[in-house]
Amino acid sequence: MKIAITGKGGVGKTTIAGALARLYKDKGYKVLAVDADPDANLASAIAGVSKIQQEIVPISQMKKLIEERTGAKPGTVGSFFRINPKVDDLPEKLGIELLGIKLLVLGGVEKGGSGCICPESTLLRSLIKSLLVERDEVVIMDMEAGIEHLGRGTAESVDVFVIVVEPGLRSLETAKSINKLAKDIGIEKIFLVLNKVRKGEKRCMEEKARSIIPNAPVIGWINESQKVRLADIEGKSSYDLDKIFVEKINSLKEELGKAVS
Ligand SMILES: Nc1ncnc2c1ncn2[C@@H]1O[C@H](COP(=O)(O)OP(=O)(O)OP(=O)(O)O)[C@@H](O)[C@H]1O
Ligand SMILES: [Mg+2]
Repeated sequence: MKIAITGKGGVGKTTIAGALARLYKDKGYKVLAVDADPDANLASAIAGVSKIQQEIVPISQMKKLIEERTGAKPGTVGSFFRINPKVDDLPEKLGIELLGIKLLVLGGVEKGGSGCICPESTLLRSLIKSLLVERDEVVIMDMEAGIEHLGRGTAESVDVFVIVVEPGLRSLETAKSINKLAKDIGIEKIFLVLNKVRKGEKRCMEEKARSIIPNAPVIGWINESQKVRLADIEGKSSYDLDKIFVEKINSLKEELGKAVS
């Protein structure tokens, strides 16, 4: 099962990705959580804020590794480098164990003018491809608001593509653009998850979602929760603090399972 999670900034992607990782783990699955957001904080959504998290070095900053694998120094544009670097050993070598979940933090890549084709982005793309295509565990990828790391060839390996939206047209408009990009590269199973839903907002948001993005059904919803907010304030994982939230995540997991079978 390969799940990619995206959506507008602040909608709850990381909170949901972290909780799904914990839940799959608790259900006995092997889980690889991938933090593909340059502003990485999936570790704290999984296990709360800890020292480990502050010591994590994102792969995009591992200069020696990038040079070793691609044959070119990071930051060099236009030089010759391997476009298919060896990456299949990296999850084992660089994965951080967090509560039995393996976490890979990819980090960000400096963006060049017309889409960076540099050693570091090549390494990350190859790594993501290998995670999605070759791994047999549950892979949960927390992405920024976009699909930059994905491309043709990787797209068909994403089993479910989840776009998180919150009540409001702005996040739905972002979802619409993401949906289009995802469809353009061949991703098929695209779903919306409504997050931070308050009383009385669910039906209205479902209707708006249906009319704005008809091809991406709402597969789950999570209510706005004071406990989830508090978890973030206190540097803890929502998974440990809010039973109702965990139940919602569980329903989401069930629906995702049905969607791929
Ligand atoms: N269901 C919810 N109820 C209340 N607060 C929530 C809920 N889901 C997420 N939040 C809060 O919203 C904030 C943003 O959540 P989160 O970091 O998961 O979003 P994100 O989409 O990953 O953001 P970014 O775009 O910055 O990566 C956090 O403070 C989080 O605790
Ligand atoms: Mg996030």
